[in-house]
Amino acid sequence: MVLVLVNAKDAVLEKKNKQDENYKMIIGIRSYQDKDLIIIEITDNGIGILNEDINNLILPFYTTKEEGKGTGLGLSICYQIIKDMGGSIEITSDTSNGTKIKLLLSSQRKN
Ligand SMILES: Nc1ncnc2c1ncn2[C@@H]1O[C@H](COP(=O)(O)OP(=O)(O)O)[C@@H](O)[C@H]1O
Ligand SMILES: [Mg+2]
Repeated sequence: MVLVLVNAKDAVLEKKNKQDENYKMIIGIRSYQDKDLIIIEITDNGIGILNEDINNLILPFYTTKEEGKGTGLGLSICYQIIKDMGGSIEITSDTSNGTKIKLLLSSQRKN
């Protein structure tokens, strides 16, 4: 979760660097339950993700950030942890509106 928030922060800061002063950085987080799922949703109005990149994001060491900045491990670690918990991640993004990342977890404990 923290790793997803760090990505959101990077994305809004990078957009701020490119954009005029009227741009307001927005990061949102909310969580809710939908039937058996607990959903944590993190949104940002940052630079967004190109369609061609979206399927690569969870690969280890995949990063679009400059050398020394990104490790490319954030989302792959998140994905592994959530998968181990029986959950999944949904990423929707475009370069004009920004990014929404949903972490979906089962509310049923499986022992
Ligand atoms: N909120 C976001 N907005 C824009 N791009 C994102 C966002 N989250 C992830 N990404 C993209 O996914 C890539 C991989 O993220 P991550 O695995 O956390 O590695 P890192 O942050 O070290 O680059 C990033 O380099 C970036 O291109
Ligand atoms: Mg990251």
